[in-house]
Parts: sequence; C-alpha cells; structure tokens
Amino acid sequence: MALPAGETEEFEIMEDRSLSGVGGNLMPYGKAAVLAFVNEKGGVAKTTSCVNLGAALAQRDWRVLCIDLDPQANMTTAFGVSAEVAIAKEAHCLLTMPRFPLERAVVSTQVDNLDLVPASARLADCDKALVMEVGREGRLRTKLREFYRSVLTEKYDVVLIDCPPSLDLLTINALTAATHMIVPVTTKFYALKGMALLGEMVATLHEQIGATVKMLGILVTMFDKKTALDVTIYKLLREKIEREFGDYVFNTVISKSVLVSEAEAGGFPVLLREPDSKAAAAYRALADETTKRLQPDMAGLLSAVPAVGAGYVS
Ligand SMILES: Nc1ncnc2c1ncn2[C@@H]1O[C@H](COP(=O)(O)OP(=O)(O)OP(=O)(O)O)[C@@H](O)[C@H]1O
Ligand SMILES: [Mg+2]
Repeated sequence: MALPAGETEEFEIMEDRSLSGVGGNLMPYGKAAVLAFVNEKGGVAKTTSCVNLGAALAQRDWRVLCIDLDPQANMTTAFGVSAEVAIAKEAHCLLTMPRFPLERAVVSTQVDNLDLVPASARLADCDKALVMEVGREGRLRTKLREFYRSVLTEKYDVVLIDCPPSLDLLTINALTAATHMIVPVTTKFYALKGMALLGEMVATLHEQIGATVKMLGILVTMFDKKTALDVTIYKLLREKIEREFGDYVFNTVISKSVLVSEAEAGGFPVLLREPDSKAAAAYRALADETTKRLQPDMAGLLSAVPAVGAGYVS
C-alpha cells in the first residue's frame, strides 16, 4: 500500500513488525483499558454511551481517547468535530496502511482530557480495501500496541471504541483490539437477539486470532420506568443474564431523556451541556461502576478467561 507523498520517513518509526502477529501479550496497553461499545443492533445508544462515559471519565482526570470506528461518524459529530477535519485526518488509513501511526489520526475535542480519532465515510471502504490483506482483523490492535510501546507519545488511561451496528470487519478490529466490551441494549422485546452471534464471534476471535476481549457489562439504555413493558423486559433480561452467566448487567441504568439527544445534536456530551441533570448523574454513576468493574484487570493481570464466549445468550 502506497504512503502519501513525502511521508515515508515519518512512518519509518512504525517499522517494528514484531507486534503485528497474533496472540501475544495480555497487557498490551500497559495499565490502560480498551473498551469497545458493540451491538449489531442499530440505535441502542452505543455512540451516546461511548461519548458520555468518555466525558465522565475525562472529568475524573482520566486521559481518554475515543475512536470512532463507524462510517456514520456519529461520535465525531457528537464531539462537535467537523466532517472536513475528520476527512483531513484520514483515520481509515489506520486500517488500510500498515505504517500509518495512531497519533497521526488524533484530534483534540472541546472536552478536557479527551481526544478523538474521528471517522469519515471512507471507513466504509475498508472491508473492500482489506479483502486480500493478511492480518486485516488485527490492524487496529497493532496500531494501538505500537502507540503504547512508543516512548514518544503521551498515553491515554482508557480508549473507548464506538462500533457500527454490524459485525463487520470494523467491529472485528475493535473486538480484536479491545480488552473489554460494553454491550448497550434497550428494553425491547428483541434486546438479546444477536447476542448469540456476538458471543460466537468473540469466541472465534479468541481461538483464531488471539483476542482477549472480555465482557465488562451489558448496559440498559433509553429506559422508561413509566412504561410497563420496559420494566418487565428489564427484569427478565437481568434475571436471564444473571442466572445463566453472572453479574454482567450494569446496575446503572440510563433513562430516556431528551436532554441527552439534544446535547448530542449540539455537539456536546450531556455531561458538559447539562451537568446538573439526572442524565449527567447517570453517566457519572456509570463511570463509577465502570472503574470498579475494571479494577481487577487494571490493577494487575488481565486474565484471558473467563471470556464471555460462545452461546452467550441462546
Ligand atoms: N438516554 C437517551 N435518551 C434519549 N435519547 C437517547 C438516549 N441515548 C441515546 N439517545 C438517542 O437515540 C438515538 C440513537 O442513539 P445512538 O446513536 O447512540 O445509538 P447507536 O447504537 O450508536 O446507533 P447506531 O447503531 O446507528 O450507531 C440518537 O438520536 C441518540 O441521541
Ligand atoms: Mg452509533
């Protein structure tokens, strides 16, 4: 793959190919966690959760990097980053060009302590561009590992990856790079549909390309406690997951609030736009719970098991 004119030397630092193989180090990012927000189902608040959890962690002085891996670029918009800036950053090259370094794709945002790798529609071409490429599932992981190995770059404490609503190569790259995944779900009848597929994919990534991603939690979003069906489905979902798999449902529930979508449409996390709202408080509670759930792994060893694998929800 050709490099942009005149940029060959700049990329020479990325020549170390020893990290590009599969498997390997279980603590590839030092003490940092890499969280992928994933659900094949569209409109379940993957992006909104990623944006607001990122902002809540940044407010606690965590250094946060959000990576928008969705060609819809909703997270990029939600942070108020323009399409022109996103296109100019050429972040899709992270996947298509072996020597395009992560730091080159990073922009700062109006949230202190929070940077972004923006997305553009060009991400949608990655599937086709990489169809014949060896190791295409691990491109993002390689870039992140190189970033964390480099002595030249300031490191982030956490990386949050927003995935598209599909189990495509972009999501595979996110899951292969991630240490943990968060699955946002809404309290709809088919909330768990697709989970089995996700579980199978994660199991395959573990077996075949050395992914170590673990389930951090299932996050109930857009909940309406005044709607009887929402309450019923929430109870059923919680019971089923706890009975069959364990304590995987976040205690924090994100309620439906027009403030959330209004803030997002204005290019701000609700935490910044309406810091005193219940919605902002919920995301701060989510940050607390996330920190607690991450504690065992971030404090020391990142154990490869138990991963939430095959047959996650039947
Ligand atoms: N708690 C909430 N209350 C009200 N609206 C919300 C809430 N969370 C998200 N939304 C709105 O719901 C819509 C879908 O959310 P979002 O874009 O985060 O979902 P998604 O899973 O990322 O979607 P996609 O699969 O298309 O990427 C958006 O318009 C968003 O502003
Ligand atoms: Mg989204």
